[in-house]
Formats: sequence, structure tokens, C-alpha cells
Amino acid sequence: MSVKVSAIAAVEQYHRGLAKNGRIPWNIQEDQSYFKSKVKGHVVIMGRKTYDEIRQVPLTDRPNIVITRQKALEQKGFIFVNNIDDALRVARNEELRGEVFIVGGGEIYKMGLPYTDRLYLTLVDGTYGSMETTFPDYNDKYKTVISDSGVKNSGGYKYSFVVLEK
Ligand SMILES: NC(=O)c1ccc[n+]([C@@H]2O[C@H](COP(=O)([O-])OP(=O)(O)OC[C@H]3O[C@@H](n4cnc5c(N)ncnc54)[C@H](OP(=O)(O)O)[C@@H]3O)[C@@H](O)[C@H]2O)c1
Repeated sequence: MSVKVSAIAAVEQYHRGLAKNGRIPWNIQEDQSYFKSKVKGHVVIMGRKTYDEIRQVPLTDRPNIVITRQKALEQKGFIFVNNIDDALRVARNEELRGEVFIVGGGEIYKMGLPYTDRLYLTLVDGTYGSMETTFPDYNDKYKTVISDSGVKNSGGYKYSFVVLEK
């Protein structure tokens, strides 16, 4: 079975910000539901810092793959690998439904982008100042709009869900 590689992220839409002072500076309930609905039942790939941030709780019932330079990490529900090639190889072997998700953070989106077929982006409007973690520049390569929710308003936030392909 061919497996599509997707990245899913909530991104401050003007500067591609992902996190400020080590955390995501918005709390959009609908985005959290959207994220869960997309990754449910799929293999996910994340960086070790994102793994720490989710407090080591698996995001899905499929394997959660963590990329780290460390050699001795072990935890139930997670597979630890030392590079993106191993992450994708394991993910393709384990994936049952044809799509694996790269779920962050900034370092892992960047190293994964050359392998990424599809982007699920929540584009967040607003002013968050400078954010140290950013999503890589994707505009030139992902020009096919698969879907666009249009601007939504909820909980004091403005955002849209867009899905893009190369
Ligand atoms: N807005 C969003 O949608 C979203 C989504 C996810 C995360 N985030 C945010 O992103 C931030 C974390 O992102 P981040 O960029 O700081 O960290 P990250 O991408 O989650 O993880 C970085 C870690 O990955 C490992 N790594 C990186 N390059 C590697 C390589 N070439 N080979 C092997 N391992 C490698 C290293 O782990 P070791 O140090 O263990 O070696 C490194 O410390 C958090 O603040 C989180 O809130 C935002």
C-alpha cells in the first residue's frame, strides 16, 4: 500500500509561528478536535521536545514515533528513532490506513517537509509577537488547495483550516 506523508500544524498565518516561550500561545478548542479527528487511527511522528510537551501521553492508538538523538529512551506506546529516514520507514510499515502524520515541532516539520505530500494547516489570525519556533516556508511548493474552510470565529480566535498539496 502506498502511504501518504502529511504534516498537521496550527500556524500563525503571517510569520508561520508555531510556539512562543516553549508553548502554543492560543487555545482553540475546535482546532484540538480537528487535530484529533485527523490523526486518529494513524501513525504519528514527532520530535522529542514535542513528546515532552504532550507529557508523554500517546496522541493516537497507532504507534507514536519520536525522533531523538538519544539512544536509551523507552516508553510504552512510543517508538524512538534517531533520524527521519528511520521514522518514515517504521511509519510506513506500521500504518494501516494509508496516511502518516508529522505532528511537530518546528525542527521535525523542517526535516520532514521534503518528504511531505500534504499539509493540514490551521492558519491562526492575530498578533503574537516574535515566536521562536516556526513552520518552514511552504508557499512556493504547496500550491494545490484541497480544501479551505474560510475564516472561522470561535472562543475569541479567528482561524481557517486549509489542506494543501504540491
Ligand atoms: N503549533 C503547532 O501546531 C505545534 C505542533 C507541535 C509542536 N509545537 C511546538 O513546537 C515546540 C517544539 O518544537 P521544537 O522545534 O523546539 O522541537 P521538536 O521538533 O519537537 O523536537 C526537537 C528534537 O528533535 C530531535 N531532533 C532534531 N533534529 C534531529 C536529528 N537531525 N536527528 C535526531 N534527532 C533530532 C532532538 O531531540 P533530542 O534533544 O532528544 O536529541 C531535538 O531536541 C513546542 O513549543 C511545541 O509547543 C507546535
